[in-house]
Amino acid sequence: MRWETDGGPASVAEKNPPDLPRAKGMIMKAVVYHSFGGPEVLEVVEVPEPKMFADQVRIRIKATALNPADLGFQAGAVDALVDSFFPVIPGWDVAGIVEEVGIGTTGFKPGDEVIGFVRGVIQRYGTYAEQITAEPRQLARKPANLDWGQAAGLPLVGLTAYQAVVHALGVREGETVLVHGAAGGVGHLAVQIAAARGASVIGTASESNHGYLRFLGVQPVTYGVGLADRVRALAPGGVDAVLDTAGRGALAITQRIGTADVRAASVANSNEHPGTIQVFAHLDQADLEALVELAEAGKLSVRVAWSFPLDQAADAQRLLSEGHSGGKIVLTVA
Ligand SMILES: NC(=O)c1ccc[n+]([C@@H]2O[C@H](COP(=O)([O-])OP(=O)(O)OC[C@H]3O[C@@H](n4cnc5c(N)ncnc54)[C@H](OP(=O)(O)O)[C@@H]3O)[C@@H](O)[C@H]2O)c1
Repeated sequence: MRWETDGGPASVAEKNPPDLPRAKGMIMKAVVYHSFGGPEVLEVVEVPEPKMFADQVRIRIKATALNPADLGFQAGAVDALVDSFFPVIPGWDVAGIVEEVGIGTTGFKPGDEVIGFVRGVIQRYGTYAEQITAEPRQLARKPANLDWGQAAGLPLVGLTAYQAVVHALGVREGETVLVHGAAGGVGHLAVQIAAARGASVIGTASESNHGYLRFLGVQPVTYGVGLADRVRALAPGGVDAVLDTAGRGALAITQRIGTADVRAASVANSNEHPGTIQVFAHLDQADLEALVELAEAGKLSVRVAWSFPLDQAADAQRLLSEGHSGGKIVLTVA
């Protein structure tokens, strides 16, 4: 049936340019694993392109970002909860160009530059690859002022930070906020989101990251023994809210450094402080769009600490596993 005769949507051919640079059934380059393990199980191979359903878009990936969850899923740590169909292509963050749209797709067209958080309910097609297919609700336009690597580094940690600072902690103007792990992937966005809401921000980090935190307007403190005293010196009246992105018992000092009704949230499964709100990043297009607006307003920058070509994904994961990457590690796709 030709829908345009009854006012319905255009056909696939009409929605997509006639000179699509690809043919159906082609293969693409991807990084995969055939069994659970560490970075050593990754292989660079050619696989069939992902199929695209009628309400999806096909994205030509320009860059993707690594996250600690990639390592856990790849190690089989959540095998009891999530099905993996081998070979698995890891990765959930994407920045790229819409290449093709399904007949039932609205909101995006070929040529659009987008970012997305494309975690599925199974592990099969991820973003360590040349292409991914996604639903429009998983996407937002790419911030015009971010390059591809920065844009790829925004979705997962941005959603996590935004949902922690805005929805879980409800950080308000004039408050003082402490972020544990302030120079990490989640942390460096959380401190900026808190500052954009008018909070005064203290962040824990290795000394090598203190200059960067000062550049963001954050008061840096070194983590480890004596942390509570160092935070108290900067916030004698106590902090109003604490976000833990580091784990390792960081929340244990919360009562000593907080106001009487201090609020605490964790993205690192930590709960040493009673009433800690556990945050689990979830897809919310409105939150993704809010992140784009903050970035375009100059209030949110993504620090790409390391950039690797797709073929070197295993080296990139080794660096991530050290836990001190100082921002985002991204893979660029030619
Ligand atoms: N719940 C969710 O939905 C969700 C989403 C995303 C991430 N996460 C989790 O959140 C955590 C952070 O993720 P990420 O992407 O930000 O990781 P990341 O970029 O690797 O950052 C790790 C951070 O931990 C800090 N750190 C390392 N050793 C520390 C120590 N001994 N004490 C205190 N801090 C220490 C690092 O600080 P320095 O580099 O300054 O030393 C760095 O800021 C991970 O556990 C990740 O799995 C959860």
